Amino acid sequence: MGEPTKIQKVLVIHGPNLNMLGTREPDIYGSKRLEDIDAVLTDLGKKLDLDVETFQSNFEGEIVETIQKSSGTYKGLIINPAAYTHTSIAIRDALLLLDMPIIEIHLSNIYRRESFRHKSMIADVVTAQIAGFGVDGYVMALEALSGMIRRR
Ligand code: DQA
Repeated sequence: MGEPTKIQKVLVIHGPNLNMLGTREPDIYGSKRLEDIDAVLTDLGKKLDLDVETFQSNFEGEIVETIQKSSGTYKGLIINPAAYTHTSIAIRDALLLLDMPIIEIHLSNIYRRESFRHKSMIADVVTAQIAGFGVDGYVMALEALSGMIRRR
């Protein structure tokens, strides 16, 4: 018998206005609420031997502090910085503190939208980016992150 698989902790950070999913521009972001997405990730995490913790904030500084504190506790990070994707050097700098796989995710395909959404301040400091798959993208992100963590 091999070693039992260790349960690793991973963190999912949702940025501003994502707490409004379900009612917010459903034609762009879909009809699922954030709680639904978090439940999908928590369930999938159990199958992947991952303990998934989720965090949402509308405040840039809170997101920065959560990233700072994540080092040591978590083995991987999934982050949708929402509008801060396009503006936040502070979130970018915080991500640079981490030594773990990081997946940037967007529900919508930011490259098919307004030009100000085409620039991500974090794209070149994360491990990988997923955009345009809606909620399925979160499933893909967690599965990919699981592989990245196991291979480390
Ligand atoms: C988003 C895309 C951002 O441009 C936007 O500000 C969001 C959500 C997405 O998931 O598609 O709030 O990150």
